[in-house]
Amino acid sequence: MKDRLVIFDTTLRDGEQSPGAAMTRDEKLRIARQLERLRVDVIEAGFAAASPGDAEAIRAISETIKDSVVCSLARANERDVRAAGEAIQSAARGRIHTFIATSPIHMEKKLRMTPDQVVEAAIASVKLARQFTDDVEFSAEDAVRSDTDFLIRIFDAVIRAGATTINVPDTVGYAIPSLWGERIRELIARVPGSDKVVWSTHCHNDLGMAVANSLAAVQAGARQVECTINGLGERAGNASLEEVVMAVRTRPDLFAVETGIDTTQIIATSKLVSSITGYPIQPNKAIVGANAFAHESGIHQDGVLKNRETYEIMRPEDVGLSSNRLTLGKLSGRNAFRSRLTELGIPVESEEQLNHAFSRFKALADKKSEIFDEDIQALMSDEALLA
Ligand code: KIV
Ligand code: ZN
Repeated sequence: MKDRLVIFDTTLRDGEQSPGAAMTRDEKLRIARQLERLRVDVIEAGFAAASPGDAEAIRAISETIKDSVVCSLARANERDVRAAGEAIQSAARGRIHTFIATSPIHMEKKLRMTPDQVVEAAIASVKLARQFTDDVEFSAEDAVRSDTDFLIRIFDAVIRAGATTINVPDTVGYAIPSLWGERIRELIARVPGSDKVVWSTHCHNDLGMAVANSLAAVQAGARQVECTINGLGERAGNASLEEVVMAVRTRPDLFAVETGIDTTQIIATSKLVSSITGYPIQPNKAIVGANAFAHESGIHQDGVLKNRETYEIMRPEDVGLSSNRLTLGKLSGRNAFRSRLTELGIPVESEEQLNHAFSRFKALADKKSEIFDEDIQALMSDEALLA
C-alpha cells in the first residue's frame, strides 16, 4: 500500500495573487466545483480577512463543496483567525491555515518582531484556530531562508499547540531540489512529534524549480503538496498541480505515494481556470499545453503510428484528451500523411498517387508552417482532377 499524497490546491488563494487574476465569488465557486470533480483533497478558497468579498466566496464554497476540505488562510493574529474560522463554519470539513514569517529578513524588516514574539504569535493563533476546527495547518513563511534550529523550535511549539499539518514553504522560489529534499528530511527527523502531523511543502517558481522542489520534498517524506492549476500564482507562480500529479503517477518507481486525483479532469480544469483568469496556457506547457501530446517530426510520427509508447510517456486519454495529435508540416513523413488521409475518409487509389500527392503536400508545407485538414482536402480534390 502506498501512502496518500494530499493534494492541496491554492488556485483560489495563491493563484489569485497573480496580477490581474482576481476572481468574483461566482467564478471562484465554478472553479471550486471543478476542483471537487478533479478530486483535490483540500481547496484553499481564499484569505477571509483580506476582503468582505473573499470571506463571502469562502462561505459560499464552504456551503457547496462536500468532498474536499475547504480552507481559509489567516495571518497569525486574532482578527484573521476569527475571520477564517467564521468563513469555514458551514464546511463539511473546514481547515484554517495560519502562517507567520520565520526568516531573519522577514522577522526584522517586515514584521519588526523578535523570534520569541513570532513563536508566541504562532502558538496563540494555532490555539485559537483549534477552537473553530480540529484541522489546523501552520506555515513558516520564507522557511527556505529561515534558520533550521528556529524552524524546529517553532514547529515543535505549534504541534504542541494543536497544529495537524506543518507546511514548509519556499516562498521566494530560492530552493534547489537536492537541498530542499535534505531540509525536509532533516525537519521530519528532528522535530519532536513529527509523526503526528502531515508534512507539507509549498514551492514557488522563481527559478523554474517549483515542481522539482515539491517532488524532492515528497521523496524526503512530505505527504502534502500545495500547488495550483496551470502553475498560476504570485510572481512566477506556484508548483503546477497537473505536473506534480502526473509525475507521481508516471514514475511510481520513484515515489512511494499516490494521489486521489481524477486525472481525466485535468484538461477541463486547466481550460476553466485559464478562461476565468484570462491567463493563457503556453502551447508547450507540460501536460496541458496544446502541444503536450502533439508530434511534429516525421520520425516521431512514424514511431507513434507504430506504437504510441515510442514517444509518449503518458496517455492523452489519462489527462482528459480524446487523442494525441500528429501535426502536419514540412517535417511530417509519408506515414503520417497517409494516416491523415484515412482519418479524413479520402481514398488513395495507388502508391503512385500517394507519392504524387505527398510531394505536392511537401511543397505546400515549405510555404505554410502548419497544414490543416482543409488544405489536405483541397490538395486531394486537385489530385482527383489531375488523375
Ligand atoms: O508562499 C508562501 O509562503 C505562502 C504562505 C502563505 C504559505 O503562500
Ligand atoms: Zn505562496
